Amino acid sequence: MTVVLSYKSKQAIDEWLKKFPENQRQSAVLYALRIVQDENSGWLTEPLMDAVAAYLGMPKVAVYEVATFYSMFDLKPVGKYKVSICTNISCLLCGSEPIVAHLKNRLGIDFNETSKDGRFTLKEVECLAACGGAPAMQIGQVYYENLTPDKVDAILAKLE
Ligand code: FES
Repeated sequence: MTVVLSYKSKQAIDEWLKKFPENQRQSAVLYALRIVQDENSGWLTEPLMDAVAAYLGMPKVAVYEVATFYSMFDLKPVGKYKVSICTNISCLLCGSEPIVAHLKNRLGIDFNETSKDGRFTLKEVECLAACGGAPAMQIGQVYYENLTPDKVDAILAKLE
């Protein structure tokens, strides 16, 4: 199936392309994938990745490599809220394990699963570059730091 990028996506990608040399369109691949993923309810399909490859003039496999390497990209449908909890060393030392257990219990799902109501997908991620506020998690584009189980409950309660 051939997919064409939306006009809105192309416009947003074009803004990023202005920041790179004209013969280095592939430099915008991370931004392009993020734009396209956001427009597709938080996940990437193969036809969408192919469309990004075509638009940036790069091999499809090079786009797949990027999309499968970074944890911020998802290749299957996700919930409305992606809850990405860091379990790397600083967060581990500062107590991410009980936070993970609390999230799994509270949401009723394991890593890489989506709650039955379609609201939450739980992801385990490497360092979020928020080590100073460990343990940390990301929901959508927002970072939450110095987590405790009570803080997690308060954060989840505020989500519509
Ligand atoms: S180790 Fe968790 S944010 Fe860096």
